[in-house]
Amino acid sequence: MIDMIEIQHVHKSYSVGNKEIQVLKGIDLRIEKGAFLALVGPSGAGKSTLLHILGGLDEPTRGKVFFEGQDIHGLNDKALSRLRNRKIGFIFQFYHLLPEFTALENVMMPALVGLDAGPGQNSGSVRERAQALLHQMGLSRRAGHFPSQLSGGEQQRVAIARALMNSPELLLCDEPTGNLDLASGAEIVAEMKQINRREKVTIILVTHNLELAKTSDTIYRLTDGILVN
Ligand SMILES: Nc1ncnc2c1ncn2[C@@H]1O[C@H](COP(=O)(O)OP(=O)(O)O)[C@@H](O)[C@H]1O
Ligand SMILES: [Mg+2]
Repeated sequence: MIDMIEIQHVHKSYSVGNKEIQVLKGIDLRIEKGAFLALVGPSGAGKSTLLHILGGLDEPTRGKVFFEGQDIHGLNDKALSRLRNRKIGFIFQFYHLLPEFTALENVMMPALVGLDAGPGQNSGSVRERAQALLHQMGLSRRAGHFPSQLSGGEQQRVAIARALMNSPELLLCDEPTGNLDLASGAEIVAEMKQINRREKVTIILVTHNLELAKTSDTIYRLTDGILVN
């Protein structure tokens, strides 16, 4: 099995005033391609920090992150943005949809803002793919709706479709059900499981709902800056 991600001795501290707080205190983790992993832990434990470091949105204070064997913090900004845009999808608690664009346009966005959209990425095929993803999420009839016209669960499904637009290999989900009722949250996680199984996308799901975490293949807990299995 090839590793999707490997992190070695990752530390992260923040300076707050004249104090330094250590959030991550030496994390080692290997994630195989196609894995579905849940990350749990109390609020403030550093789950989002770790996810941001894994996704190249933030840098560790010490340690290394390898994406398919490549040291991502050794990449220049352009190469790192490209890697994020092409290979990593992010899903957040508050969806982060663009309010002035329709569901369909939101889903199309990652393909349109690609730094250098390759040949064949014409707007017609982008639209078709976005429509197919919305259909997969059961949202065909919502394609022309704006985020404010959608329920929370629907908005999150639009966000999932958007995250899948560029066929990422890794999906990083930061409390994606944190703002949803139990039933909608369970549907979202079931959807993720299907995406993992069907498309072999590697998924890391941060949640503090242990029941939902059990949907994954492996649960890790982050406490006191250390990861335990
Ligand atoms: N940019 C930042 N500057 C200073 N402290 C931060 C920053 N981001 C996070 N922290 C602190 O790091 C700790 C972990 O935060 P976070 O990763 O958001 O935890 P979790 O997602 O597990 O709730 C918290 O104490 C938080 O206040
Ligand atoms: Mg968090």
